[in-house]
Amino acid sequence: MTSGTIAAQITDYANRADPYPLFAELREQPVRREDDGTYLVSTYYEVRSLANDPRLSNDTSNRPPGYTRVGQPVESGLPPSFIFTDPPVHDRLRDTINRPFGPPHSPRFLDGLRGGLAEVVTELLDAFEGKDQVDIVEDFAYPLPVTAICKVLGVPREDEPRFHGWADALASSLDPQAGEDGQGKAQRARQDMGAYLADLIETKRRRPGPGILSALAPEMTPADLEATAVLLLVAGHETTVNAITNTTLTLLRHPDVLERFQKDPSLAVPLIEEVLRYEPPVQFVPWTTALADIDVADTTIPEGSPVWLMLAAANRDPRRFEDPDRFDPDREDNEHLGFYTGIHYCFGAPLARMELHVAVPELFRRVTFSRLLEDPPPYRANAVLRGPRHLPVAIEGLTA
Ligand code: HEM
Repeated sequence: MTSGTIAAQITDYANRADPYPLFAELREQPVRREDDGTYLVSTYYEVRSLANDPRLSNDTSNRPPGYTRVGQPVESGLPPSFIFTDPPVHDRLRDTINRPFGPPHSPRFLDGLRGGLAEVVTELLDAFEGKDQVDIVEDFAYPLPVTAICKVLGVPREDEPRFHGWADALASSLDPQAGEDGQGKAQRARQDMGAYLADLIETKRRRPGPGILSALAPEMTPADLEATAVLLLVAGHETTVNAITNTTLTLLRHPDVLERFQKDPSLAVPLIEEVLRYEPPVQFVPWTTALADIDVADTTIPEGSPVWLMLAAANRDPRRFEDPDRFDPDREDNEHLGFYTGIHYCFGAPLARMELHVAVPELFRRVTFSRLLEDPPPYRANAVLRGPRHLPVAIEGLTA
């Protein structure tokens, strides 16, 4: 990590609550070279083009030595999970893992989880009864995605205290500022989580149950399945919680939209998409590497360069979105990059959208909010998976 550069400013915790002025500065030069040879790409069409370019690799072993490590702790003994692989390995793994999860083979799988998740939302909101303040993160946004990903995988929900710390350590290692210390912690977490999941997968091989791990056990090598399970457990944990929290925060900051939403719950669809544009839970992807010289926006990114794709900056590119700093659920043609684009487009997007649609309308139907108790709220350290650590709010009442 270089210091004093714009990349250092973006990762600096002091800018976590409002990184958007920095992103605006960054967009003045769509492809920007940092002193250490890292390239930051921040404008919509350039990010979109590179995310779809086969010459850009997600395989972190292609990054030349000497650059900041982000992501995959490959020394953990497990093979890379599919997010950190390129074709053809990536496509083979993703196709296999998709079989029990989505169409064409399992078009009903996710819908089958909806009722159970709605019950979880009801229980979480029932527990607000009699309280005059709650923490949206701990009391609402965190428990739902954890329950959801446990159901998807077939991991016992009550084991959550065991894997919570591992998931945190792994999520932290996606941040370029994690450093060698953070990478070391992530490596141990991946080993421990892998060992925990190996036992569970072995049990499922003998006695299959609900969830995709049982379905995948006969289809994949144990090591590939463990790596996949670690990835899904972490991805399922650390992103949707920020999406639910960011939606709540944004609505409480825009009372006019909130009022409309309470009168017209059908606003949920454009509103949730607009939050994913305006406050994307994955702010940038800092683990790609150029496999060849790539010409983009009058710049040549040399082979071997680390490339950061700045999704949150691209989502506010005025050449693509009119008045981009305005939160506007009436925006038409909202093709944001919150879930990325290209072959690594978020695998969990249909699950995340379902969770948001189960959670957000019910939260605002039942709870009468009075105000945010801290604005801006305290943020997590992570610059990549950015979101509030807590969101304390005062509430006036709860409807049945
Ligand atoms: C609102 C919540 C979410 C957001 C904003 C989000 C965003 C993203 C983004 C930006 C990527 C691209 C990363 C890259 O290429 O390097 C991605 C990939 C991925 N996401 Fe999500 N995600 C969310 C929820 C989930 C959930 C719930 C799951 C769990 C099933 C999940 C699983 C994955 C996986 C497995 C990949 C890798 C896909 C691939 O490499 O082909 N995500 N997500």
